Amino acid sequence: MPLIDKHDRSLMIYRCLIAVFSVVFLALPAQAQSGRIPVAADSGMVVSSHYLASEAGMEVLRSGGNAVDAAIATAFALAVTLPSAGNIGGGGFLVYHGADGYVTAFNFREKAPLAATADMYLGPDGRIQNNSNHEGPLAVGVPGTVAGLSLAHTRLGALPWARLVQPAVELAEHGFPSSRDMTGFLRRLAQTGDPLYAATRQAFLKDGEQVYAPGEIWQQPDLAASLKRIRDHGHDGFYKGETARLLADFMARHGGLITEEDLARYQAEEQPPIHGTYRGYDVYAMSPPSSGGIALVTMLNILEGYPLKALGHNSARYLHLLSEAMRRAFADRAEHVGDPKFNPNMPVDRLISKAHGAALRGSIVVDRASESDSSRFGGLYLASESEETTHLSVMDAQGDAVALTYTLEYSYGSRLVADGTGFLLNNEMGDFNPMPGHTDTRGYIGTPPNLVAPEKRMLSSMTPTIVARDGTPRLIVGSPGGRTIINTVLQVILNVVDFDMTIGEAVEAPRIHHQWLPNVTNFESLGISPDTRQLYEALGHRVRFRGTQGRAHCILTENGVIYGAADSRSYDGRAIGY
Ligand code: DON
Repeated sequence: MPLIDKHDRSLMIYRCLIAVFSVVFLALPAQAQSGRIPVAADSGMVVSSHYLASEAGMEVLRSGGNAVDAAIATAFALAVTLPSAGNIGGGGFLVYHGADGYVTAFNFREKAPLAATADMYLGPDGRIQNNSNHEGPLAVGVPGTVAGLSLAHTRLGALPWARLVQPAVELAEHGFPSSRDMTGFLRRLAQTGDPLYAATRQAFLKDGEQVYAPGEIWQQPDLAASLKRIRDHGHDGFYKGETARLLADFMARHGGLITEEDLARYQAEEQPPIHGTYRGYDVYAMSPPSSGGIALVTMLNILEGYPLKALGHNSARYLHLLSEAMRRAFADRAEHVGDPKFNPNMPVDRLISKAHGAALRGSIVVDRASESDSSRFGGLYLASESEETTHLSVMDAQGDAVALTYTLEYSYGSRLVADGTGFLLNNEMGDFNPMPGHTDTRGYIGTPPNLVAPEKRMLSSMTPTIVARDGTPRLIVGSPGGRTIINTVLQVILNVVDFDMTIGEAVEAPRIHHQWLPNVTNFESLGISPDTRQLYEALGHRVRFRGTQGRAHCILTENGVIYGAADSRSYDGRAIGY
C-alpha cells in the first residue's frame, strides 16, 4: 500500500500550489519587506509605506527618471493607496542631496488661511471650542503638497510631469486591493451619519455605504479626476480652476476659512536644509518651519561628546544619555522654533552650534536624570501629537538622494473630503499653539513663535534627513510619528554610525522617546528588557511603554551597493531596488 494515496497526493500538490501562489501573489504584496535583511540593489531604490507606491517610483527610475522624479511619482501614488497619510490635501518637506554634492530642500508645509487669527479657536470662556483646531473645517490648513512636488520637479526633475502623475491616476481610476490597514477607519466612517462627511463616505465606502473588505478592488473616480487636472495643468491644476472652486465652495458651505484666493496665493519654497556634522558625517535635515533639523543636530552635537559604542546599544546608561539629549533639544524647540518668516530672530545658528551642544552636554549628569524644568514657561505641558504621516526614501542610479516626509497630521487628517474632489483634507492647523499666552497641565502651549497668523506655516516635527560622507549621500532617513519622528531619525543614525548596524538592523531596533514634557520616557513595548528598564529607572527616569514608534523607511549605501529597508512596523511598506 502506497504511503500516500492518489487523493492525498493531488491534495498535496494542490496545497503546494496554493502555498506558492500565496507567497508570490498574496503574501508579497501585502507584507513589509522583512525585518533585518535589507533589500540590496546596484542601480536604484525606492522605500515607501505602500508596495504599489514603491513600484510606481521604481518604474520611473527604470524608465530614466531621477530620484526627484521617482519621489514625486511615489508621493502621488501614496495619495491614492495610503489615504491615512499619503496626500494631495496636506503638506510636507523634501530634502535633496545630489551625487554632485548639490543640497537643497523644499518646504510645502500648509499655511493658515488669510482669515485666520491667533485666537480663532477660542470661545468667550477663552477655551478651545469643540476641538475645532483638530476637527472640522477650521482645522484645515491651505494644502501644500502639489505645490511642493511641482516646484521640486521644476527645479530638479528630468521626466515630464504628466509621466509622474499618471501612475496615481491609474491606481485611482482602475483601483487596487483595499488594505486591511484601513478597516478600522472605514468601519467608523460607515457608522457616521454626519452630513459633513458625506463626500468622505462617497469616496471611501462602496456605494457610499459599505466597508470594502481587505483585498476588494477600490476605485476612486473623483480622486482620479482631481489627479488628472494636476497631471494636465501642474500646480494650477490644483490651486486654480475646478479643484480650487470645489474646495472653496465646501469651505464656504461649512464655515471653513479657505478661499480661492488662499489657494491661488499658495507657493512652496525652496530653502537650504539645516546642516550639522556628526563623527565626520554631514547631516542635512529639514529646516524651519520644521523643528526636526534643529533638534536632530542639537542632539547629535550633545551625543558626539560621549563614547556611545562603549556603553552598549540600548543599555540603561546609553538610554539615559539619549533621553537627556532629547529633553534638552525639545525644550529649545518649544522656546524658539516656528515659521522663520514670522520669527526672523530665531537663533538657529546658535541652537545647532557645537558650542551650544557642549554647553547642554555640560548640564548632563551621567548617572542621574535631570528634571524637565518648565518654569521658564510657567509650567507648561505639551499636548500629545498624533502619529500618522509617511516618509519615503529614494536613490537613483547616479547616486542622487531624496528624503520626503509629508502628512495630513492625524490619521486620515480632518476626515473631510470636499464634494467632487475625492481626497482628504489635512487638520494641520492643530500644530499651531492654539491659546496665546496660555499654558496648562492639560497640554497646551502658548509660546509666541508658533501662534496662528494669516499665511503662517505651523511648526512641524517632520525630519526628512540625508547623511553624507565626503559629499556623497550615504544614509536617507525619515519617519512618521509626530514629535517622536525626530527621536526615531536620531536613533537610526546612531545605530548606523555608532553601532555599525546594517540599515535593516538600524530600522528594526527598539526605540525610545523623550520630549522634555511630560517628563517620561516612552519605550517600545517589545525589545527593551525589564532589567534595563529597572537600571534606567534607578537613574531617576520614569518609563511608559507604547506599542511601536515610527515607521522609518530608509536607504544606506555601502561599497557601492544600495540597501533599502522598509520598517516592519509599517503595514504595507516595501523597499524595491533594481
Ligand atoms: O508636522 C508634524 O510634526 C505633525 N503634523 C506630524 C504628524 C505626524 O507625524 C503624525 N504621524 N505619524
